Amino acid sequence: MNSTVVADSVRAAIARNAASTLLARSTALAACTDKPGEILRTFLSPAMERVHQRMQPWFETAGAIVSVDRAGNLRAFYPSASNENSPRLLIGSHLDTVPNAGAYDGVLGVLMGLALVEGLSGRKMPFAVEIIGFSDEEGTRFGIPFLGSRAVVNQLDDALLGKDANGITIREALSDYAAGHPEAIETSLSSMTTGYLEFHIEQGPVLESKKLALGVVDSLAGQSRCHLVFNGRAGHAGTTPMLLRRDALAAAAEWMTRCEMIASNVEGLMATVGQISAEPGGVNVIPGTVRCSLDVRHTDDTVRGQSVRVILEEAHAIAARRGMQVDAEEYHAQPAVHLDSAMISLCDKAVRQAGYASIRMTSGAGHDAMVIAPHLPAAMVFLRSPGGISHHPDESVLEEDVAAAIHAGLCFLDEFALFLAEKEGNPIA
Ligand code: GLV
Ligand code: MN
Ligand code: MN
Repeated sequence: MNSTVVADSVRAAIARNAASTLLARSTALAACTDKPGEILRTFLSPAMERVHQRMQPWFETAGAIVSVDRAGNLRAFYPSASNENSPRLLIGSHLDTVPNAGAYDGVLGVLMGLALVEGLSGRKMPFAVEIIGFSDEEGTRFGIPFLGSRAVVNQLDDALLGKDANGITIREALSDYAAGHPEAIETSLSSMTTGYLEFHIEQGPVLESKKLALGVVDSLAGQSRCHLVFNGRAGHAGTTPMLLRRDALAAAAEWMTRCEMIASNVEGLMATVGQISAEPGGVNVIPGTVRCSLDVRHTDDTVRGQSVRVILEEAHAIAARRGMQVDAEEYHAQPAVHLDSAMISLCDKAVRQAGYASIRMTSGAGHDAMVIAPHLPAAMVFLRSPGGISHHPDESVLEEDVAAAIHAGLCFLDEFALFLAEKEGNPIA
């Protein structure tokens, strides 16, 4: 029996045990919620704090030093075999959630980092590993996504005036957090960081349809987020003739069905109105004001940009025909991203070495990797999502697929060491 086979059977056994631990931990973390009865964790919230407290001893037992940074990201540092100036591999994902979330979107990627350093069983690599649990990827609290990863790459400035539902700005939330956490470390990345790896559930049906446990992501679709306010005129529901109304909700509804039609007619375009509120909100009052969100995605930034323009022009045209105005603003635009070819190849190799077939995939979902990728060579591995279900409490993952991911991740760590050795300490990029 050669040593590679022994090593791989050992890795497979470690991965099988670690997979059930990872799932039990996901369940434990799901109990940390800001809203009893559902999973909800938002940027810098009390539930996020409890997640950090639950995870800290797990990381420390694995030999990692745990901190939070000033943007509320959890940082766990697993030292290298040699010294503090070793290259560093960043493994991460996010710990916040959408409302009424499942237990794996984001959390799984952070727990994967933990499982991988645990799986080293005390062995140190020629590089350090930093595991990061980003404080915000979904944008649930402020409507602006990626706050944790944007802070890490120093690209938060243009978002700082964003407000939450209570009128608190991101700047204020961060300064309150820093005041309450004097021990928080610098948010930036070490200059020794040479690569970023993120594991995430696929959140779609592709891997399941191909009967595959794992996929390697090569690109991520760009996304835009917009606010719209339809300004009609409130009035009496019983006395205002239909033709004399300026019903803001009827206008918004007409526009939403147009959004759906426009997106359905462009290959690969996704358009979603996920939030809507009507004011004043009386059963017997014609809605005078409607506020809604718009999320638009496409892998081609030009198509996305043109589509946003067309969809917003459509809102103006519908509002004008109905005798009202609409204020529409694109407040967030994240370009599509191609991940790093060398890191992708390492992932492919690691997955194969662990004994699994895989495919290259494009992600329609946004991930922290897309914020990190312009700054560091980055790669992502997807795990099959049963039923393609995500952003829903029924979201799940198979234990055998988690074991596959841990096995591949352990192979990746050794491949990354070889890769760095071949580069003889030169940066990957
Ligand atoms: C996050 O899951 C997103 O794609 O919006
Ligand atoms: Mn998500
Ligand atoms: Mn996610």
